[in-house]
Amino acid sequence: MNIALKTHQNSPENTVTRALEDQCDEVHEFSKDVLTGLSAPQKTLPCKYLYDETGSKIFEQICELDDYYLTRTEADIFATNLPDIAKTLGANVTLVEPGAGNCEKAQPLLCAMTSPAAYFPIDISPEILLAAQIRLQASLPELPVHSIVGDFTDPTSWDGSAVDGRQVVFFPGSTVGNFTEKDAERLLKGFASWLKPGDGLLLGADLVKDSVVLERAYHDNEHVTEAFNKNLLQRINRELNGNFELESFAHRAFYHPLRQRVEMHLVSLKAQQVRVAGIEFQFAEGETIHTENSHKYTDESLTALLNRAGFVSCRHWTDNNNHFAIYYAEIS
Ligand code: AVI
Repeated sequence: MNIALKTHQNSPENTVTRALEDQCDEVHEFSKDVLTGLSAPQKTLPCKYLYDETGSKIFEQICELDDYYLTRTEADIFATNLPDIAKTLGANVTLVEPGAGNCEKAQPLLCAMTSPAAYFPIDISPEILLAAQIRLQASLPELPVHSIVGDFTDPTSWDGSAVDGRQVVFFPGSTVGNFTEKDAERLLKGFASWLKPGDGLLLGADLVKDSVVLERAYHDNEHVTEAFNKNLLQRINRELNGNFELESFAHRAFYHPLRQRVEMHLVSLKAQQVRVAGIEFQFAEGETIHTENSHKYTDESLTALLNRAGFVSCRHWTDNNNHFAIYYAEIS
């Protein structure tokens, strides 16, 4: 069993000093992004901050909701087409998974693949990676697994040139939808920079559909998504000495047909003043903080995105309702 966590850079990553420095950098970046976002004419908070420890737990609950069809539908597509998907990826392939988290989506795929050469999960959290690696190696003891601690949006988090043979980047879950069009292109171009001609990308993407279905997925009856959205205010209160009153903000999620995305906002229910890190922000009644975009794709828009990033779409699999799709594309 090979259990080693690496950061890509050769820094003294295991020292306490380094960990503290990283923590300070994170708090500093969070505070800078929040203060900048709340100062903009349309108040905005980057959606990556939804995922602190509490937010990540709430997101797991979202994935179990009846209204949130995405996770269930993607899992069904994989379950139905696993042998075909594995065959399309080919034999002796190295699988790289940016934002792998607990690696639970890769496990059945790796089991179905013919003699996978190695698996490289990349994630920001060393604790989650280590636990996942131990679990994975119990079921696939022969597979070399090398966890990489890093931010997958940074193309230098992985160096694909060190890999012999074919590589496939695995990016399920429609996380690509949480990036703006430009940032999604930049992200996929970053993945492309790890690959050589003939290497692949296996990508999960949510599709354009009836707005009622979309809006229910992001404004569920059990108010779990509301808790997920409002947790961001709680996080700001806790980490940046904020004084948001949670009951003075409402969760709003709506589908924007022209932009083909669901937008998540927090709406101020009254004119109010909020203090964050010693700075006062004014809110008018009805003014919103834009907290997340979740882009939905058509075959045309996704194929165009893949092409702009240097990929050629080869195959895709979908469900009977055409709600979600898994695309396989290669570097041209
Ligand atoms: C992580 N991501 C794909 C989710 C989505 O559907 O855009 C995040 C989410 N936000 C609210 N519900 C789920």
